[in-house]
Amino acid sequence: MKDILTAPFMVEMIRTATNMYAHGWDERNGGNISLLLDEADVREYLDTDNVLRTVPTGFEAPELEGKYFLVTGTGKYFKNVQYAPDVNLGIVRLTDGGKKAELLWGYTDGGRFTSEFPAHMMSHVARLRVDPENRVVMHCHPANLLAMTYVHDLDERAFTRTLWQMCTECIVVFPDGVNVLPWMLCGTNEIGIATAQKMATARLVVWAQHGIYGAGKDLDETFGLIETAEKAAEIYLKIAHLPLVNTITDEQMHLLEARFGVKAREGYLQ
Ligand code: 13P
Ligand code: ZN
Repeated sequence: MKDILTAPFMVEMIRTATNMYAHGWDERNGGNISLLLDEADVREYLDTDNVLRTVPTGFEAPELEGKYFLVTGTGKYFKNVQYAPDVNLGIVRLTDGGKKAELLWGYTDGGRFTSEFPAHMMSHVARLRVDPENRVVMHCHPANLLAMTYVHDLDERAFTRTLWQMCTECIVVFPDGVNVLPWMLCGTNEIGIATAQKMATARLVVWAQHGIYGAGKDLDETFGLIETAEKAAEIYLKIAHLPLVNTITDEQMHLLEARFGVKAREGYLQ
């Protein structure tokens, strides 16, 4: 059996959590990541018959039966992931129609997966339906996007259009736009269901006055998605109080669509 700390998925996870912390997106225990793993990859590093603990999830997700996830732990600091991955991360396999999670590795201090496990697992189900390549769900608290939810209309079209107008490449990176949930109590099945519904039509879902969720095929892509939206929100906050003299027009957005072979969300451009 190979050393799991050398597994590419583990190395990438540790690097990503560390980088997210460095970006200021994950103060204290803020944020969480889940990465869908291939069983064959897991088996190179773990005896998958050796279940350490079984934890009820509190929801059902039959689509994820038998699937393996590397997940950040609840209450764990992203800052510390690199120093003690086995304490701050865990590998679980969903069983019993998603009602149970079998711990195969990690959470060595007796901990468990993130309190946002419902939102993560339900979002994986929603994204896999539209994109079988999806592997990652990422949540964090980037300051500019969060700040924007206090001063900008939360209408999804309006919010998306503002972000698209802030940097030329936004529409290329997230042509599906940004969906927005109003403030809701976090860590619940209700916010999980609502997030997954929003994930059906976009890979970015803002939680007003809380943070953002991103989904993608790998950690790098998902990080880049949030990074791009956060950069746009930063520009918005730099200019929102100033008289607007120039913008990226809808006509120019259509040129970007053609040049980069993307299609903006239906009805979002004139
Ligand atoms: P966890 O520590 O349970 O992952 O929660 C952090 C968070 O960001 C809640 O939304
Ligand atoms: Zn959060």
